[in-house]
Formats: sequence, structure tokens, C-alpha cells
Amino acid sequence: MVRETRLHPDDLIAPLFVREGIDEARPIGSLPGQFQHTRESLRREVGELKDLGVPAVMLFGVPQHKDHEGSEAFNPEGIVQLAIQDLRDDHGDDLVIIPDLCVDEYTDHGHCGVLDDSGQPDNDVTLEIYEQVAVAQAVAGADIVAPSGMMDGQVFAIREALDDAGFDQVAILAYAAKYATALYGPFRDAVDVTIVGGGDRKGYQQDVANAREAMEEIREDIGEGADIVMVKPAMPYLDVISRARAEIDIPLAAYHVSGEYAMVHAAALQGWLELEPVAFEHIGAVKRAGADIILTYFSRLIAEGLQ
Ligand code: PBG
Repeated sequence: MVRETRLHPDDLIAPLFVREGIDEARPIGSLPGQFQHTRESLRREVGELKDLGVPAVMLFGVPQHKDHEGSEAFNPEGIVQLAIQDLRDDHGDDLVIIPDLCVDEYTDHGHCGVLDDSGQPDNDVTLEIYEQVAVAQAVAGADIVAPSGMMDGQVFAIREALDDAGFDQVAILAYAAKYATALYGPFRDAVDVTIVGGGDRKGYQQDVANAREAMEEIREDIGEGADIVMVKPAMPYLDVISRARAEIDIPLAAYHVSGEYAMVHAAALQGWLELEPVAFEHIGAVKRAGADIILTYFSRLIAEGLQ
């Protein structure tokens, strides 16, 4: 009766991976319980999540062919576009479909944009690619697009491109405060991404030491037209989530990322921690800090635990 926060399956978005050119789902070693799905196994997984009450999925594609600009990300026949159509066929309007909007899974160099001569993403050339990806995802049936590349001006560019193409009803979930964390490691295994030359994303993602800058990034994205803003990762940035909740009035999401999930599983596998109560404590803390919406690989476990 006196409990202040409660988790509900409606709070959750399940991140899922779909891979082109495989015959059966492949387990992801560093993310126990998660798979690179085929189109078919993705449909089954989403059907089960939906039955458990999870209302939304975030989709990441793993293409067979990667190139310099990540062209499979905006190919109308690209793996994510096909998966969006499958899920729309299966669920109609009853599922919120949110493709991640970035090119790192699709580029042969692993960066989130097209590279300039110095080997770093060229911000403005990359925006033109993101505009094409947004429209391709909207045509396929996305409800919300989720730009995660941290290019300056990406929300505004995508909003304009969607509106010009007649998709003014497609919303934008902006990865607004996305940190250059060491916690994305297992994700990069999941999407077969290695950043060329041992590089990193510190040129475009945020310094892990900065909280004021996160608020500035969030305010900028809201000004550019974001409908939902996100803080990522979650657990090490509860201060940022809490501050954002106090300072802004649009829906706030938090992404409990691959490394956060993997750590809990690794400790549980050793018998050092109990998986389920720790998962509930972590995801519950993210909600308590102020997130309305939580992206987590624990979505199934949490939704099952809440039945
Ligand atoms: C970029 C993207 C990343 C994640 C989501 N979108 C990786 C990165 O920025 O390197 C990480 C998610 C996770 O670790 O669970 N497309």
C-alpha cells in the first residue's frame, strides 16, 4: 500500500536483434537469453512478449552486406524494413514498433556515420543518410523512429524528412543523452560491429563525467522536435535520469544497456547473485529515478515475474 513505485509491463520496451541470411536464431554469447533472430523467430518472440503484456519493441538489424555508408539501413528490402512489415502484419496497431535509427550495424567501419578524410563521421553528410533511413523505416510501418547516432541536429533533420514525406504522425524517440560508456561491449557482439582501427565514439557520444551537458543535449533534442527523450545507459546515470525528470515534461526513457544486463547474468552464472531479484531491483531503480519507459533485455523476465 505504501509502495511508491511499481513496475508494469507497459513500462517496457524490449530491444531485439534480427539478422539477415540465417536459418535459425543464434544465441548471443555475451547476452544470455538474447538471440540474433531470423524473421520467423523474431515474430514468435514478439508474439510471446506481446502475450506477456510488453507493448513495444526496439529493433536492430544485422545485414549480410556492410558498406561505407550503411546503405542496407535505408534499403526498402533491408532486414529491419522487412521485420517491421512482418510485425505490423502480425499485430496491426497493437504493437509499438520502434526501429533504432543509426548506421553502425550497417557500415563496414562500424561508426555511426559516413567518415570524412580524418576517419571520423562527417556530421552533416550523415544527417542526409539518417533522413533516408527514417523515411524507409516509416514507409515500412514504424510508429516511432529512434535516432541513436548522436549527430548534431539529427532530430531536426529527421523531423523535417518525415514531415516532407507525409509521415508527420511518426514520432521520434531521441537517444538524447547517450554516453560513450564501456557498457556497450556485448551489444557490439550482438550486431557484429567492430569500430575500425580500435576507434571509439568519444567524438560524438558524451563524456561519462558530464551531467550538465546531458541536460543541454536533452533540451536541444526537445527543441528540435523530439517526442520522447532517452538517457543511456541507465544504472550509472540515475542522477541524470532524476535530474531530467525534474527539469523536463515530455516522456523520459532510459536504456538499461547490454553491459548492464550482461554483468547481472555473469554474476548469477557464478552463483554470486540471484538473477531475478537483482533484475527487479535494477529496473525498479531506473523507474524510481524517474524514467517513464525502460528499454531492457530483462523485459521478458520482468514481464514474466509480474504475471
Ligand atoms: C548504436 C547503438 C548502440 C547501442 C544502441 N544503439 C551502440 C553504440 O553506440 O555503440 C547500445 C545498446 C546496448 O549496449 O545495449 N546504433
